[in-house]
Amino acid sequence: MSAHSTPSRRALLQGAAAVPVVGLGLAGCSTEGNRRAASATPTAPVELGPEGEVAKGTTKLFEEQKVVVTRAEDGGLTAYGSVCTHAGCPMNKLEGTTLICSCHGSRFDATTGEVLERPATVPLPEVPVRVEGGRLVAGPAEA
Ligand code: FES
Repeated sequence: MSAHSTPSRRALLQGAAAVPVVGLGLAGCSTEGNRRAASATPTAPVELGPEGEVAKGTTKLFEEQKVVVTRAEDGGLTAYGSVCTHAGCPMNKLEGTTLICSCHGSRFDATTGEVLERPATVPLPEVPVRVEGGRLVAGPAEA
């Protein structure tokens, strides 16, 4: 072992310790992100597919349309926007009825929109959903 190895190792460790701090992306934790994400829901009717796409008692994520739809056992439909309210990442993972954000790990109940796990604190926005001519449609009705 040389006398130079200790300082070099220390310098290396100091450098490595600084990397995770930079990588945290703390700007993403602002409430500004929450406000931005809230406006990411459909503002016009969006067709999701045939009515049978979401069977009774199931929940389905429509990634492209950024909507998650649940059909209750009684046939009632509910939908929520699937853009994370923390910093605006579109979510692409649904486990059962839990929507998971891959950016920072927030979890949401897809049947209620409620936050199950932080860092998100704002629930998912509810989106109107209905059946029109045998097709599932999300978003506000056309005027
Ligand atoms: S954007 Fe941060 S948890 Fe989803």
